[in-house]
Amino acid sequence: MAVIAENCPDIKVTVVDINEEKIRDWNSEDLDQLPVFEPGLKEIISKVRGKNLFFSTHIDKEISLSDMVFISVNTPTKTKGFGAGYAIDLKWVEESARKVAKYASGHTIVVEKSTLPVKTAELIKSILIQSDDKNLDSDKNTFSILSNPEFLAEGTAIYNLRNPDRVLIGGDDEQSINSLKQIYKNWVNEEKILETNLWSSELSKLTANAFLAQRISSINSISSICEVTGAEISEVSKAVGFDSRIGSEFLSAGPGFGGSCFKKDILNLVYISRFYGLYSVADYWEQVITLNSWHTKRISKLIVEKLFGTVANKRILILGFSFKSNTNDTRESPSISIVKDLLENGAEIIIHDPKVKPSQIEKELNCDSEIITDIREEGKWQYSNNIYKSIENSDAVVILTEWEVYKNLDWVKISGIMRSPAWVFDARGITRDSEIKETSLNYWAIGDGSSKLK
Ligand code: UDX
Repeated sequence: MAVIAENCPDIKVTVVDINEEKIRDWNSEDLDQLPVFEPGLKEIISKVRGKNLFFSTHIDKEISLSDMVFISVNTPTKTKGFGAGYAIDLKWVEESARKVAKYASGHTIVVEKSTLPVKTAELIKSILIQSDDKNLDSDKNTFSILSNPEFLAEGTAIYNLRNPDRVLIGGDDEQSINSLKQIYKNWVNEEKILETNLWSSELSKLTANAFLAQRISSINSISSICEVTGAEISEVSKAVGFDSRIGSEFLSAGPGFGGSCFKKDILNLVYISRFYGLYSVADYWEQVITLNSWHTKRISKLIVEKLFGTVANKRILILGFSFKSNTNDTRESPSISIVKDLLENGAEIIIHDPKVKPSQIEKELNCDSEIITDIREEGKWQYSNNIYKSIENSDAVVILTEWEVYKNLDWVKISGIMRSPAWVFDARGITRDSEIKETSLNYWAIGDGSSKLK
């Protein structure tokens, strides 16, 4: 919405939320307090907030004033009931649709922005048309539904929004499609704006995320083969990526994919496939997640094995807790499960991350109630804001997020202050070209089978 406001000065954009604290933070004078850290975002907010971009909790009033409403609520995987563990919980989408039904006036275009299961537009449509809560003038009110999924990636969101590969608009009402198209045309080349039917649009979003996640599981699976055979994953990725049919993006081996989308969207695809009796299709996609979990666990196990089979009372510094660099988002971050595994095995963990706050880490690690008591009572994890100080006397350093600062560490200095025999585990492969191999540090990097050749 910030990018729409930036590019369309004549359109008034209002973001509403039931969470008052969040809206207060979005209105905060101190731009470092915005609820989301995203490179370039605060600069846009400082330019357009109060001009044509507003943040408010007056949901009813703002809906009634709007010509177009984007539903951008969260759509988590259901944790109980039918489809638990796979299907998407649509309660927030439904609630939003009911609010729109109740307060909208005149003709309102409702745009699905959240990633939704195929055929959700049908649900939104029936709520808008049949809801008991409809306002008294409802006979005069009309709606049309569009699907306009978002393909931005965190950390590069502003860049992706300003320069999208494509904008997808699904729907069957030409006039509404055109209204939304006019908005994007302010900064996106018309050739990049694709029109599809509603279901194709919803399914394209799930498919794009499934394909991306599949590439990561594929390259991560190959990294394990590299390690046992003597091949080097960065060389393999490069050689494979040079094939123009395959392309070079999304071929970096790492600790496993995280983030709020990949797992959830694939689970949803699996659910839909099973629902329609397409069991082999469901199993095929589910394997992408199975491999991802196996791969992350493989790294935890490998750390314990290399540290002589036990990490009890060993001091381990974790570099990076966000699920990727340039974001403070920790959802589904592989760091969570790796840290939990090491804590369960008795390690003393120190966590550093340039953007994730300690309270956020605490929240993630407390998810598992059995571990809470361990960590809280025994104080087995600490937060660090000084990498070198935390490395002193530690037994291992584990790089889990590819933050820029971790690419240029002084490994000679580090090797002198760790407790020998010390280990460096680089699950992102960002230290391959560093001087690390010339120090006395023991070294493991993802997919690096070169030691096999010595
Ligand atoms: C993803 C999609 O890219 C985006 O189009 C969609 O709108 C939302 O989901 P996001 O989750 O923000 O975006 O991050 P992404 O850059 O896709 O990375 C996801 C995970 O894969 C991260 O944990 C990242 O570290 C990992 N990854 C990515 C790799 O391990 N290797 C790669 O080569 C690329």
